Amino acid sequence: MSLLEEIEALKAQALQASGELTAATLEDWRIKYLGTKGAVKAMMGRLKEAPREDKPLVGKALNELKGALQARYDELSGELGPGKPARRVAAGDITLPGLRPRIGHVHLVTQTINAICDIFGRMGFTVAYGPEVEDELHNFVALNIPASHPARDPLDNFYIDPYTMLRSQTSTVQIRVMESQEPPVRIIAPGRVYRPDTVDATHSFMFHQVEGLYVDEGVTMADLKTCLDQFCKAYFGHEIATRFRPSFFPFTEPSAEVDVLFHYDDGSTKWIELGGCGMVDPNVLEAVGYDSEKYTGYAFGMGIERMLMRRHNVPDIRLLYENDVRFLHQF
Ligand code: DAH
Repeated sequence: MSLLEEIEALKAQALQASGELTAATLEDWRIKYLGTKGAVKAMMGRLKEAPREDKPLVGKALNELKGALQARYDELSGELGPGKPARRVAAGDITLPGLRPRIGHVHLVTQTINAICDIFGRMGFTVAYGPEVEDELHNFVALNIPASHPARDPLDNFYIDPYTMLRSQTSTVQIRVMESQEPPVRIIAPGRVYRPDTVDATHSFMFHQVEGLYVDEGVTMADLKTCLDQFCKAYFGHEIATRFRPSFFPFTEPSAEVDVLFHYDDGSTKWIELGGCGMVDPNVLEAVGYDSEKYTGYAFGMGIERMLMRRHNVPDIRLLYENDVRFLHQF
């Protein structure tokens, strides 16, 4: 039998065998004829036996053989369904769709930081970052917070050694930015802060703040109020009202607390404190070498969890850190 005849015989045999296939035997047929160690592959390997002048003809016949069997296989797998799971687990119905892996997404705290950076970005603020392990100089001294101030109590802070601590506020970044550049500065600084508070629905030993600082010639408290009012309207919605209450912080003079008025579904309203703010104390400007006669500035610091909990109706701060995807994937 010539090689061409053998090819024809193989084709006939395979096609004949294919007439009796079932879903369970289709895969065996495919492996026998079309598999990497199958009959077609073996036959192709014999092309080199053909005399030189016959090679084109034999090559063509081989291609036709392969094409015919592949077409037959495609036809049958359409009719009979996918073949038997040759090397796959036999248990269960493998024709069912698989389980779609759930894709993660940005955490609600990060989403909020991104939204805040976006809004302030449109008002001309750039984003600055500072270290979470800080020295007392940046966390307290340069911010005009004296050694006697209760905020410096070792029991109210995470000290690492007598001079080093986990920062308790993002106000540290104000100092770091002013040390490294001349006015005008207009930055916001989002990030984690740490305080040894007892954990409950509204407190955590770690939470996030966003700090803001704008220093230039002729900056006034009216600019501060406008900026924060605009921010609150952009973040919470245009119906929101803000109010500023006199307060005290060592690093601002005068100082204020900023509140937003929330309307609840039952018709009631409530003022919620968002953070502190004020005009940068001249002592702070002088501590970083700025001329406090020439420059004025405002600063503010707000709690990020507090904002997002209001906006998204999150009742307990702990939900944000427990990493329960049933909670997280809602946002
Ligand atoms: N650092 C203050 C705190 O953690 C918040 C604050 C108040 C920041 C007034 C400011 C500010 O920049 O001007 O309680």
